[in-house]
Amino acid sequence: MTATLVTGIGELTTFDPAHPGPLGLVRDAAVLAVDGRIAWTGASSAAPRSDADAVVDVAGAAVIPGFVDAHTHLVFAGDRAHEFEARMAGRPYTAGGIRSTVAATREATEDALRTRLAWLVAELHAQGTTTFEVKSGYGLTVADEERLLRLAREVTDETTFLGAHVVPAEYADDADAYVDLVTGPMLDACAPHARWIDVFCETGAFSVEQSERILRAGAECGLGVRVHAAQLGPGGGVALAVELDAASVDHCTYLTDEDVERLAASRTVATLLPGVEFSTRHAYPSGRRLLDAGATVALASDCNPGSSFTSSMPFCIALAVRELGLTPAEALRAATLGGAAALRRDDVGHLRPGARADLAVLRAPSHIHLAYRPGVPLIERTLRL
Ligand code: NIG
Ligand code: FE
Repeated sequence: MTATLVTGIGELTTFDPAHPGPLGLVRDAAVLAVDGRIAWTGASSAAPRSDADAVVDVAGAAVIPGFVDAHTHLVFAGDRAHEFEARMAGRPYTAGGIRSTVAATREATEDALRTRLAWLVAELHAQGTTTFEVKSGYGLTVADEERLLRLAREVTDETTFLGAHVVPAEYADDADAYVDLVTGPMLDACAPHARWIDVFCETGAFSVEQSERILRAGAECGLGVRVHAAQLGPGGGVALAVELDAASVDHCTYLTDEDVERLAASRTVATLLPGVEFSTRHAYPSGRRLLDAGATVALASDCNPGSSFTSSMPFCIALAVRELGLTPAEALRAATLGGAAALRRDDVGHLRPGARADLAVLRAPSHIHLAYRPGVPLIERTLRL
């Protein structure tokens, strides 16, 4: 048994209803972790010091649960910096750019992909993320998708098969044949390495009918359902996600009032990805509208080389506060508990007894600084005790 006491915490966010307010805040706090799980949180003065083998004093810092980034595309080769530069000069974002990353990724060796992936995982960790999902989707052949998922599995259990990212160039004239491939041999090869199935349900990618076929096939293989929808315009993807009891529908940039009502009446999480609007110049969605309606909201990075090449949850929190209408507390909740809900996990995203002892120590006295000091490296340490 290993017991570690983290003490000297100026402001501790637990999301434990045993502590006050929506954040379950404790000031002058301590945390006892035993064998990787939270055993106790409370006032420093009441800390069970004699139970601890090791003591970590964080000297007045704010401590939060590690971020849960429920949407990334971390396995790829190349970058699309010139595409970003052109967008900033007024060119529109199109999903067509995905094909250039597919070409670079197919060319790359396994070692090159693994090295890039490790570099991005280190970035996430340094910015306070302790649980993250990784999608395939830049391979789009049976062997390439399987390879990306095997690599993803080396760094996380939250792996998602996204063979239906776009229709690859070689199937441009016969998208339904590609859907047959995705729902047949590709799913057979990929399902053993994946926990989830996802589809990009959008004009220019997959129709609602094609998406439904793909998601149902995945669900029949035991995969949980998540959906990319309403990124570039409104469509039937949100309704489909709710109908299939998807864990999450991601982007949610162009929602109709009916979509908002559907989400609010369901347990499907609306995952907002404001790094995408930052990088594509589309209008930011209103997170306020979703929260006011009663929907569960998550924030995620969507880290990918095309639409959002950031691995920073603090950056997403700052955007959510500045642009999506969330308070700093709501944005923190969406980046932790919200992400956990989007992965249907109850062991992460909070610091209630029994949770995984995943903590981010801020170089700041309060969680508000995450939005108040954008672009500043505020994560002093990421702890997985
Ligand atoms: O989530 N929307 C689809 N897929 C990614 C974009 C990928 C890319 O542009 O390479 C997304 O934004
Ligand atoms: Fe995405």
